[in-house]
Amino acid sequence: MTIKDYLKDTISNCWALGHFNFSENDALRAIVESAAELKTPIFVGVSENERKHIGIKETIALVRAFREEFGIPIFLNADHHKNFEAVKEVVDAGYDAILADFSKLPFEENIKMTKQSVEYAKSKNPDIITEGELGYVRGESKIQTEVIEIKPEDLTKPEEAAQFVKETGVDLLAPAVGNIHGIVTNNSGTIDIQRIGDIKKAIGENIYLVLHGGSGLSELEFKNAIEAGVSMVHINTEIRVAFTESLRKTLQEMPEETTPYKVMAPSVLAMKKVIAEKLKIFGSVNRL
Ligand code: G3H
Ligand code: ZN
Repeated sequence: MTIKDYLKDTISNCWALGHFNFSENDALRAIVESAAELKTPIFVGVSENERKHIGIKETIALVRAFREEFGIPIFLNADHHKNFEAVKEVVDAGYDAILADFSKLPFEENIKMTKQSVEYAKSKNPDIITEGELGYVRGESKIQTEVIEIKPEDLTKPEEAAQFVKETGVDLLAPAVGNIHGIVTNNSGTIDIQRIGDIKKAIGENIYLVLHGGSGLSELEFKNAIEAGVSMVHINTEIRVAFTESLRKTLQEMPEETTPYKVMAPSVLAMKKVIAEKLKIFGSVNRL
């Protein structure tokens, strides 16, 4: 099945694809092993900084190797690429999907830059999946203790979403619907389920919604969001936290240990636990 086939199926059968970020081999292995054990297709993503750390060629080669080893669909996404040169690099390298994120720009500028990215991507690879972002998703993929206030003007307006997808030609849309990047310890906000439904209605059945900032959301929020029309959910911070918390604990417990794969092994298990929990909540199990 192609990515589009899976996206279509998420709407017909009310589930969501999991998208998990990585920046080194152990997190990628944890994502792929969890997905293979649960028999689910999977998106793996790298932001500009994440892929600078691991290397563009390396991401392509690793994902290819994992596909061969595990025999499951693994789709590689260039997550939150914020300038055209960066978009070109990953398209030329052969990524399966891109998020051309110009959401910081004014509406018309966002449309212009996203459209330019989509046109370039499709001209190089007609099968590539393109995503744009509209609205302001605050925060960063880390634990955030400060109060993050979402302003009404941050949120995506359904009528603008309709215009945005029509003019840019994106396949996927990342809206701002009360979601925040990172685990926010000081946030009483919730996901605006009604808005998700309204945006989905406005953009139509062939454009799919991606919920960013999945870390820290409740099972009920995920389920309601998926029911309202979300087809993919991004998770990053919870994997990072599982990785580093486990690593700190292991280093404390084994102060003499110097073998990298021995100190990393508990971190892989901790990441796998987080990923498997999310895949189950998203209804993504046994979807191969
Ligand atoms: O694109 C990445 C995701 O939106 C990650 O968000 O760090 O809150 O899980 P998160
Ligand atoms: Zn994101």
